[in-house]
Amino acid sequence: MFTLLILGSGAREHALAWKLAQSPQVRTIFAVPGNAGTAREAKTQNIPIDPMDFSALLTFAREREVDFVVVGPEAPLAAGVVDAFARAGIPAFGPSAAAARIESSKAFARDFMARYGVPAPRYRVFEDVDAAMRFLRTAPFEVVIKASGLAAGKGVIVPQSREEAEDAVRAMLVERRFGEAGARVLIEERLFGQEVSVLAFCDGERLALMPPAQDHKAVFDGDRGPNTGGMGAYAPAPLLDASALAVIERDILRPVVRGMAAEGTPYRGALYAGLMITSHGPKVLEFNCRFGDPEAEVILPLFEGDLLAPLLGCATGALDATQVRWRRPAAAACVVAAAPGYPGPYPKGAPIHGLESAASQPGVMVFHAGTTLDATNRVVTNGGRVLAVTAWAQSLPEALERAYQALGDIRFEGMHYRRDIGARALNSGLV
Ligand code: AMP
Ligand code: GLY
Repeated sequence: MFTLLILGSGAREHALAWKLAQSPQVRTIFAVPGNAGTAREAKTQNIPIDPMDFSALLTFAREREVDFVVVGPEAPLAAGVVDAFARAGIPAFGPSAAAARIESSKAFARDFMARYGVPAPRYRVFEDVDAAMRFLRTAPFEVVIKASGLAAGKGVIVPQSREEAEDAVRAMLVERRFGEAGARVLIEERLFGQEVSVLAFCDGERLALMPPAQDHKAVFDGDRGPNTGGMGAYAPAPLLDASALAVIERDILRPVVRGMAAEGTPYRGALYAGLMITSHGPKVLEFNCRFGDPEAEVILPLFEGDLLAPLLGCATGALDATQVRWRRPAAAACVVAAAPGYPGPYPKGAPIHGLESAASQPGVMVFHAGTTLDATNRVVTNGGRVLAVTAWAQSLPEALERAYQALGDIRFEGMHYRRDIGARALNSGLV
């Protein structure tokens, strides 16, 4: 029997705890630090340790005889949490810090893609502001400006004019708006098309694909307003059929796994390819070194069987692809309920009503993101993305209908959400 530690506090980590609690091999789960949803999940208890405090994590893991660690967010991965647990003899799901550079350094990632022929936009890396400005004056393509380092999803600017592009470069290289993350800047070719996320379980050598998912990054309906961490998702994305997925596996995911192994930094964990499906085929916008959020909330309910097996397999270099099976026919959809003002500043501490009746509907799971329990044990808001209301059914239209129906039971002060999650797929004629 396993004692697990799950690092993180979002809906992605609640979804991982929920799925792993169903494993007959799992006895106890510690969610570090978790949220009100993990606090109420079977076999699970919250532990108030900062996921970046590695020495506190290691002390706790040794004391409580933790057998296996599952890492949700990128920051501890980039800082080497998997390496730290490995030195203590505790296996952990997620890449080493060296392999996590595929997300934590966009300059590394683009150079790596170029070395292995992974389809990607043209790009240049700059540290010098004058050189960057000279390049902008003659760039042979429409540009996107990116801070190379981790910037909590805010380091990408798609400028509407040359002036905006120059401002973005100056903000990063001169004003250091993103700190060290913006000490190197990528100027890359702007791609056009539909975005889709394709994730795979990887054990350093082998890989097994997950169903493709589509996220909705903009805060308002019709993809308007500023970008967020993600306002909803659905899977499988009908945009990619089996043959398109096979091409993505062959031309994008396998070359990464081979290249990482060849460079002595084998990739273990979830590999997330953020793709643009262009008129010239799929191209990589970015790689992430972890499950997506909200992608995990729609992918994990479709997983059939014991999730512990592939996670352990990835961590120990023994992934058995026959243990990775997906419900068919089935689809899942998730709508994020956000706090008023998000993605800007927002209040906390608002009581949340209707959780029980929402979750009592069949095929519905309300994953918690920014929630906590107050002094009287009520569930209250504690973040920008508050809940990821998720449903699954035999088809995407049914899953979407269920998710919105469940959401209709939930209330908190100023709650807002997108009303058009999945609309593009529904209108595509493919479902
Ligand atoms: P990233 O964090 O690199 O995925 O970028 C965040 C968002 O910026 C993506 O989801 C895209 O919507 C957009 N984006 C990033 N790179 C490009 C690009 N080369 N062309 C067009 N849009 C992009
Ligand atoms: N949903 C986008 C991400 O997890 O990065």
